[in-house]
Parts: sequence; structure tokens; C-alpha cells
Amino acid sequence: MRKITFPLTATVLLILAVSCSYDNLEEYYDEIICDTTDVSFSETVFPVVERNCLGCHFDGNQTGIDLTGYEKIKDLVDQGKFVGNIQQAPGFVPMPPSTKLDDCTISKVVNWVNDGALNN
Ligand code: HEC
Repeated sequence: MRKITFPLTATVLLILAVSCSYDNLEEYYDEIICDTTDVSFSETVFPVVERNCLGCHFDGNQTGIDLTGYEKIKDLVDQGKFVGNIQQAPGFVPMPPSTKLDDCTISKVVNWVNDGALNN
């Protein structure tokens, strides 16, 4: 009986350590698996824009680019902009200018565009 108690205790402690270092397990799995299915404008893309872009691209800002709603973002996508900018691809002005979105976030936005950039 003592022989199995140790591995069992060690396993439980390991699980506890892993789950405690993240706020929740969902966040933990998100870092391992980038889930790019089920992306939508309202749940996925706009929150990214709100967090990373609207500080500069609000209505009436100096850049002349307004990202405050679906129509405006869709317009840029149709002009072939937006994705190239956040991927910071050659020939595009890199956005955001001083940093880069993480790969998973970029993949989600790319998927949304590939799915037709719907207002969903
Ligand atoms: C710190 C301010 C700042 C932030 C944050 C920012 N931008 Fe920009 N953005 C600018 C400026 C300034 C320009 C104009 C630069 C230029 O044309 O050289 C610009 C231009 C653009 C353009 C037009 C580029 C072109 O080819 O004409 C797009 C598209 C764009 N930004 C998208 C975004 C997106 C998407 C985000 C968020 C992921 C973002 N920006 C975040 C300042 C910002």
C-alpha cells in the first residue's frame, strides 16, 4: 500500500501546482493549444482591436484610420490591409507599431478573415 501512496501523492501535488499557477485550467490549456475554431467578430476580433488598437485608431484620430466598428474594419480587410499589418508582413506598416500581437491572437484574426470576415 505504501508503494502506491507516494506516486499518487506526487501526482496530486503536480496537478495542484499546475492548476494553481494559472487562474483557471482553461487559461492553461489556451497556452498549449491555440484554438482558432469558432472565432467571431464580436467575441474574438473586436476585443483584440479594443485592447490593442483603439488607443490610436479611435474616431477622429490623427492616423486617419478609424477601427471603432465592424464596417470600418471590414473596409480595411477589403483593401487588403489589417491582416498584413498585424502579421507585420513585408510591405505593410507593422501594427501595433511598438510591439506584436501573440501568434495565437494573429491566427484567430486570420481565421476570421479567411472565414469571410463576417459580422458575427
Ligand atoms: C501607438 C499608436 C498605434 C497603435 C496602438 C496602432 N496603430 Fe495602426 N497606425 C498608427 C499610425 C501612426 C498609423 C499611420 C502610419 C503610417 O501610415 O505610416 C497607423 C496605420 C494603420 C493602418 C494603415 C496602414 C496602411 O498601410 O496604410 C492600419 C491598417 C492600422 N494602423 C491597423 C492597426 C491595428 C489593427 C492595430 C491594433 C492591432 C493598430 N493599428 C494599432 C498608430 C497605431
